[in-house]
Amino acid sequence: MKIKPPKSSPISEILPKKPVLLMGAGPVPIPEEVAKANSIVISHLGETMKQIVSRVQAMGQYIFQTSSQKIFGISGPSSAAMEMAVTSLLWPGRKVLVLNLGTFSARFSELAKGVGAEVTEIHTPQFGPFYAEQIKEALEKSQFDVLTLVQGETSCGVKNIDLEAIVKVAKSYGVRTIVDAVCTLSTMPLQMDEWGIDIVLVGGQKGMSAIPGISLIAFAEETFEFISKREATMPHWCLDPRRAYKFWGLGEYHYTAPVPGILAIHEGLRLICEETLEKRFERHASCSKLLQKCLELMGLELYTPEKFRLNSVVAIKNSFKINVKEMIAFMINEHHVEISGAFGLDIFRIGQMGEQARPENIKRVLIALTAGHAKFDVSLNLEAALAEIEKFEGGGPKASSRSVDEMVALS
Ligand SMILES: Cc1ncc(COP(=O)(O)O)c(C=O)c1O
Repeated sequence: MKIKPPKSSPISEILPKKPVLLMGAGPVPIPEEVAKANSIVISHLGETMKQIVSRVQAMGQYIFQTSSQKIFGISGPSSAAMEMAVTSLLWPGRKVLVLNLGTFSARFSELAKGVGAEVTEIHTPQFGPFYAEQIKEALEKSQFDVLTLVQGETSCGVKNIDLEAIVKVAKSYGVRTIVDAVCTLSTMPLQMDEWGIDIVLVGGQKGMSAIPGISLIAFAEETFEFISKREATMPHWCLDPRRAYKFWGLGEYHYTAPVPGILAIHEGLRLICEETLEKRFERHASCSKLLQKCLELMGLELYTPEKFRLNSVVAIKNSFKINVKEMIAFMINEHHVEISGAFGLDIFRIGQMGEQARPENIKRVLIALTAGHAKFDVSLNLEAALAEIEKFEGGGPKASSRSVDEMVALS
């Protein structure tokens, strides 16, 4: 043996001494129940796992709002779920219309090109979401097999507010739809069956308040049947939904399932079911509006116009032209709060997904943001924001019973 072991030390040596409150675009802080579940390994096959899988699917039907039983977990990030969706419906000779709003919706093009599909990308004429009328025009001009879109484009904070109408237009032209609900599911309404969506996918690390690296995907029953009958070879083995069905439908071996991840997702879903979607949507909407109002009161400018502003990830202009990278590092090091920068745009982003959407966490991020700006000699009106939060706490939905320190400890 020539290679010697490297010098090793416990992970605690490099983890931050004080946990960092994750207030960026994901991952988000996880509740204690999720953290506990994520530390357990049981056999990936057998009766207990079967029960867990069937519960995850039943709770999945609730969050996706679908009666379909073809809900699968994927041992991989949301991008892997995007890849499963794309590879299932596209192959050489098939055509896809990709509605490109930014980094994540554009990823569908890369994935579709990878399987040899013919890709047409469209953009919106101005900054903002797509509307059904524009999609109708595109579908009149050319024939497509599949249309892909995001419910919320995390990279720029835009919400596709006309999603339902777009999906319905696509359906009327016989075009199947893939919806990325990665940063939106369980934070705002999405009705898979009622709107007629073929495939919806989500990652664990955002609205579900679970962990990164595991995702969920739901296929409409008829869509799954169509995929089952396809003759084109499936280029992926792990991401083949027909093989995934062996585990998720029949309780048999496909690959060794990500057991702790599935347990963590179970707990994330359970907490959503306990809260109920209605209350969860209300909490997310009201907390995000509170955050947005506070940011404006402080003297900052929001990047996205209110009409199509994404509530789950709020984009803020870097109006004072400060060094965002340095500000974020300062906020992490000195205040133990993290927010996100951006992919090329001169903005920074604050998340409102899952446990992020709590007044006490909004308060902490705003305090850290004020300090971050002060480091660059920019003074923000924190008092006005704190007064607004106080007003909200008096009349808004009750904040979590957990203290800030407890939340930080869990993040
Ligand atoms: C809307 C959207 N889609 C897809 C992704 C990709 O997720 P992942 O990094 O888990 O692959 C993200 C990640 O931020 C996202 O926000």
